[in-house]
Amino acid sequence: MKSIKNLNIYTIVENMVGGKGWGSWGLSFFLELEDANGNNKNVLLDAGGDKEVFMHNAKAYDIDLSNIDAIFLSHGHWDHSSAILEVVKASGGVKLFTHPEAFSSRFHVTNDGGKRDLGIQKEITVARIEELGGEINFNSEPVEIVPGLWTTGEVERISFETAFSLDEDESVVKIVDGKKIDDTIMDDQSLWAEVEGVGPIILTGCAHAGLINIIEKVKKISNFEKFYGLLGGTHLVGRSDDYIKKTIQGLKSHEFQLLSPCHCTGFKATCFMYGSFQKEFHLNYCGRKFEIGKINLEDQVF
Ligand SMILES: [Fe+2]
Ligand SMILES: [Fe+2]
Repeated sequence: MKSIKNLNIYTIVENMVGGKGWGSWGLSFFLELEDANGNNKNVLLDAGGDKEVFMHNAKAYDIDLSNIDAIFLSHGHWDHSSAILEVVKASGGVKLFTHPEAFSSRFHVTNDGGKRDLGIQKEITVARIEELGGEINFNSEPVEIVPGLWTTGEVERISFETAFSLDEDESVVKIVDGKKIDDTIMDDQSLWAEVEGVGPIILTGCAHAGLINIIEKVKKISNFEKFYGLLGGTHLVGRSDDYIKKTIQGLKSHEFQLLSPCHCTGFKATCFMYGSFQKEFHLNYCGRKFEIGKINLEDQVF
């Protein structure tokens, strides 16, 4: 596997905010990197949950949307997809990488008849993306988005982890051929790369596939045993203490030096994470910049 030479991660959308910008439930990272061939590339990981917030923050942080080389949509949930059309338009037609099931019709339902749409915004369709000059690369296998930066592909579910934390009276479903089936969010994929002179890094969207499953998948396709960093959503929100502790145990064996669980991590799991990884933990928020490989990762607001 070839390494990327350099990586800066800018958080455009996150639930919290530091300095200027607006906070909002969702996630979007702008990745500025020098790829394995020495070319400068910009990749967008997800597009937040509110396009107004996304556009406001992108402007406030001087992110040049016309200069994006690829979009990676981690999974088909509304809080990761809101500004896709705006980005495709601004970039003048870009490749979007996602799983074949990302555009599923999917809902959170409760026994008392409640129904909440969890899918990608209705106006964001494959046809509309293509009309604006975008091209969708649907793939459930690992894909090299730019030289040295890979998707995990679909992640096998081999650990104790589950896609969602749900009470007995609620479920998440998707509609396939008019029928409701349990939604295990098999479209959930992450990004990974080896950063030259630093080590391997994993970037998640929501991690519905489970952090431990994701790490195991990256190990399987890359042969890495230890990792430098893990940043992104973890879907530890609403989990039991026992579930969070098992996840932390799994992370410990991989000797991460940088951990920035955010978005759907939730307050309790964030506290547990900080308690277990005081040196490695870095809070994330809109306006945060991570210069990967800089040993002194002070809070940086851009
Ligand atoms: Fe999310
Ligand atoms: Fe999600």
